[in-house]
Amino acid sequence: MVPLSVAPMMDRTDRHFRYLMRQVTSRTLLYTEMVTTQAILRSGRSEQLLGYHPVERPLSLQLGGDDPEALRVCAQMAEDMGYDEVNLNCGCPSDRVQKGRFGAVLMKFPDQVARCVTAMKSEVSIPVTVKHRIGVDDLDTYDDMRRFVDVVSGAGADRFTVHARKAWLKGLSPKENRTIPPLRYADVYRLKTERPNLVIELNGGVETMSDAVEHLQYIDAVMIGRAAYNDPMMFAAADRLLGGGEASIRLQPEDVVRAMIPYAEEMTKDHHTRPLTIVRHLMGLVSGQPGARTFRRVLSEEGPQAENAGTLIKKALDAFELARDVVLDNPTGIYSKHHF
Ligand SMILES: Cc1cc2nc3c(=O)[nH]c(=O)nc-3n(C[C@H](O)[C@H](O)[C@H](O)COP(=O)(O)O)c2cc1C
Repeated sequence: MVPLSVAPMMDRTDRHFRYLMRQVTSRTLLYTEMVTTQAILRSGRSEQLLGYHPVERPLSLQLGGDDPEALRVCAQMAEDMGYDEVNLNCGCPSDRVQKGRFGAVLMKFPDQVARCVTAMKSEVSIPVTVKHRIGVDDLDTYDDMRRFVDVVSGAGADRFTVHARKAWLKGLSPKENRTIPPLRYADVYRLKTERPNLVIELNGGVETMSDAVEHLQYIDAVMIGRAAYNDPMMFAAADRLLGGGEASIRLQPEDVVRAMIPYAEEMTKDHHTRPLTIVRHLMGLVSGQPGARTFRRVLSEEGPQAENAGTLIKKALDAFELARDVVLDNPTGIYSKHHF
């Protein structure tokens, strides 16, 4: 496994996006969206919520919750289903999450988080990891964070993924909480220096692979969220850059699009997945290339009424290649790439 992961993101890192990412990088750790213990245990849809394709591994299930017993049971389910890791969300600031007393508000209750980790560790042999912020509300000094980490590491957490921005639980929306509080990478580096035996992963604002490599001089791993979703191809060099593995450095976005066709066909036919649910994740794949707008337009205009996602992706790819070739064959610029 490379010291790199794609962040858990609600409404983004579903199984279809993870399958797509796996066509780009075979070794980067992928995360599910956060799934609450309540949803798993009470909705009667656990199979749907937890199902994944084996190719997605290594895969971490991110859980939301604060009840040790429920988390223990869910961790066991994760292990039984072949997940490689289970992760506890202590970083999500949304209102809905605060009501159940989980997500970032849990940073105010390190003893409770420790109880949760102890319960999960008692049940499973896969790693139990924690994702948190550098601070929350007024508990936002470096010492506050280190205290949280010290208490939770006492329960045996196997990795701490630190989102290097504090969260304001009142007054800022979840989106604002990902942009307004300043990034404090130095706090994450310091944590690694002062607690060298802990595995520390840095998250927040990492936009390029060379930024990731830079951070890796100071910490153990890097997690990338929005940049990965907007431009999955940034991971094309990940396996080779960060720890060997088969080179996908020459991988082209078209190869990834093509690899999605049989998968999308099967998902629509055999699993009755709505085409748009799959194709929406492909929008960032060819970004920046001539023909990208045509590609996105075909997918977004035809996605809602398409019957088969595979056929639609093939159509979008053909249109993209045609539009790109027109631009590339006309270096005089009569056809500007902006037309497509
Ligand atoms: C749309 C969206 C949904 C997110 N959902 C989750 C989530 O389910 N669990 C979680 O721990 N963090 C979630 N996050 C936060 C990311 O995991 C990550 O910590 C944050 O985006 C900062 O990393 P980045 O700057 O690389 O995007 C979400 C972020 C976005 C943009």
